[in-house]
Amino acid sequence: DKGGYSHFMLKEINEQGAVVRSSLKGRIEGGRVDLSDELQWTAETVASWRSLHIVACGTSYYASLVAERALSRWTDLDVRVDIASEYRHRTVRTDAKTLAVFVSQSGETADTIAAQRVARGLGAHCLAITNVRGSTLAREVHDTLLLKAGPEIGVAATKTFMGQMSVLYLLALYLGRLRGGITAAEESRLVEELNQLPYKVEATVAREESLSELARIYAERRDFLFLGRGYSFPVALEGALKLKEISYVHAEGYAAGEMKHGPIALLDEKVPVITVIPRDSLYEKTLSNILEAKARKSPIIALGTDGDDLLKSYADHIITVPWTDEAFTPFLTVIPLQLFAYHVAKRRGCDIDKPRNLAKSVTVE
Ligand code: M6R
Repeated sequence: DKGGYSHFMLKEINEQGAVVRSSLKGRIEGGRVDLSDELQWTAETVASWRSLHIVACGTSYYASLVAERALSRWTDLDVRVDIASEYRHRTVRTDAKTLAVFVSQSGETADTIAAQRVARGLGAHCLAITNVRGSTLAREVHDTLLLKAGPEIGVAATKTFMGQMSVLYLLALYLGRLRGGITAAEESRLVEELNQLPYKVEATVAREESLSELARIYAERRDFLFLGRGYSFPVALEGALKLKEISYVHAEGYAAGEMKHGPIALLDEKVPVITVIPRDSLYEKTLSNILEAKARKSPIIALGTDGDDLLKSYADHIITVPWTDEAFTPFLTVIPLQLFAYHVAKRRGCDIDKPRNLAKSVTVE
């Protein structure tokens, strides 16, 4: 049941505020993150970890890249993120001092399951973050944290990306507290902001009209470049993946600082550059990349923060999201990119919920 929406993807985009809300429910106690009901970790086990490996595919990998930034900041663990099909074949420093986290919406992705078996065999403590209780992955790991996002029907992952980031952030704050990587004041400030997120997500989804308008202008372009730095880099990757996947338009996601190391050669007036540029600590640097793209005559679409008037003199189109702490910006900035991909695909007459060549869960290697 599409609940009155024309596609499951649009319905699921609209459910994202509720997904963040249900991910947080019962996991925040007295202003602090508490996952002890779901994770029966002893203080000794938690203290024994040195590194944290996160392993996933596709959109789940991008959610993990977002969380890598928060985990590196709020915990003292050595964090690395890998694509499952690579992790399982490389010589990993995985051992009993590793907490290995496997992120998979379906819990049935062949490479993620295989990677878990490798890590487990090497002695790692394995945790699954999945939307499906009873999935193969959930049955094989030591611990599971559920997304509580409800079934996702659209092949393009949207609300589960939101759910994965929510749960990974809860894990980051919880580990930060248990291992003493974060101060109590910082923790309560972040938890407060986390509690505000469902409302801000809803407010952002409600701005759909401006993305439909942007899609009207750009739906016939052949190539797009998506740029971002820091927390916004994985968002650029995810925005490009959404566009490729459902509208079959070529799109590249790049770290903004890497543009001049190659992809800038692609730019001209035919290639729009979508820059994810919230008001954060890397803002000025990303602005300089916008200027570089503008000098090559690329149409500039800036995805920034409400009230950022400076962007007007840099960009041809400005899309904004409400302010949030730098660490939480991906929860908001990804939404206009999902909506943009949706409206481009719709204009191009694509089969949005069932894109060609793709399956909802990739159970083959
Ligand atoms: O079920 P999983 O989270 O393990 O799936 C991983 C990818 O196959 C998945 O995210 C894929 O990239 C989506 N179609 C992206 O929208």
